[in-house]
Amino acid sequence: MKETKIISDIALAAQDILLGNVVAIPTETVYGLAASIFNESALKDIFKIKGRPQTSPLIVHIGRKEQVQDLCTNVPDVAYELMDAFWPGPLTLLLPKKDVVSHTITSGLNRVGLRMPAHPVALELLQRCQVPLAAPSANPFCSISPTTSAHVFNYFNGKLGYILEGGACSVGLESTIIGFEEGKCVVYRQGGARLTDIEKITGPVTFYNKTTSTSSAPGMLKRHYAPRTPLVFCTGNLADCVEKQQGKKVGVLSFSVADDIKSTNVVISLALSSAANEDEAAKNLYASLHYLDSLGLDVIITAPMPHTAIGNAINDRLKRASAL
Ligand code: TXA
Ligand code: MG
Repeated sequence: MKETKIISDIALAAQDILLGNVVAIPTETVYGLAASIFNESALKDIFKIKGRPQTSPLIVHIGRKEQVQDLCTNVPDVAYELMDAFWPGPLTLLLPKKDVVSHTITSGLNRVGLRMPAHPVALELLQRCQVPLAAPSANPFCSISPTTSAHVFNYFNGKLGYILEGGACSVGLESTIIGFEEGKCVVYRQGGARLTDIEKITGPVTFYNKTTSTSSAPGMLKRHYAPRTPLVFCTGNLADCVEKQQGKKVGVLSFSVADDIKSTNVVISLALSSAANEDEAAKNLYASLHYLDSLGLDVIITAPMPHTAIGNAINDRLKRASAL
């Protein structure tokens, strides 16, 4: 394929999707690889382009809340309360699907993940397409998620016709994923919507646990969101972790203080938010990892974020990025 074009023309992106092509689109969380949910061959192309196994389902993006009834059945009342509180926004709900949602999207599961994104470009695109769009994050399987059009271009140049420009993603972390089991609210993935805010509506949530859950959740991989450079998630003293990397070129990524490590190993030290703001840290996370990964370092060392709602979601990503 020819060089991929980064475009700002939302109508052109909609037209290309309706012609049956995969287009990279911005959302407030991360960029996605989008196709019409009614085009099976385009849906299959998403898996091919991403190198993702068919066993990992896709999230469906809608532009209007009324579309929930077209796609889902037996929606619990609490799900509607969550939609009213969080949509448009970074919350995905796993709901029993109707037949119109194909097994290609859900990997054969009987629930579909739905969300209404908050990015104005994504919303206008959904409006123009008039069909829901299936979209996983626009990165090769298991790699760092993209938060700019340039990240997507670097991954997929030549494999897509268009990337729709939407600037840097304002949230920067994937959506929080919630399901409902036996009247309980279950967290499948921590993300941009705060669990503390969700619990104000649902009461205490539980975390998905493969061994006790009656539902299945493929794709919750131990290793995920990973740079090519080995990443160490340092839970002890940061200076000690750095000292252990004798003779190696080290990059350090910390929450708010970048320059407190005096070691000749350290080539670069970055802070996610000098103001110690968890939202800013989330927004900068993937761009910082993409940048560190481009520097030819031997290892990236990260320190845990504070255990706040968003800090925990960031720690989840860092742990998975460091898993062997
Ligand atoms: O913020 C986001 O959610 C972004 C943007 C583009 O919307 N999308 C995203 O998609 O992160 P993806 O495919 O990279 O991650 C979705 C996760 C996967 O781990 C997948 O297994 C899980 O959601 N998932 C999707 N549908 C599911 C379902 N029906 N049941 C269980 N897990 C599901
Ligand atoms: Mg992903």
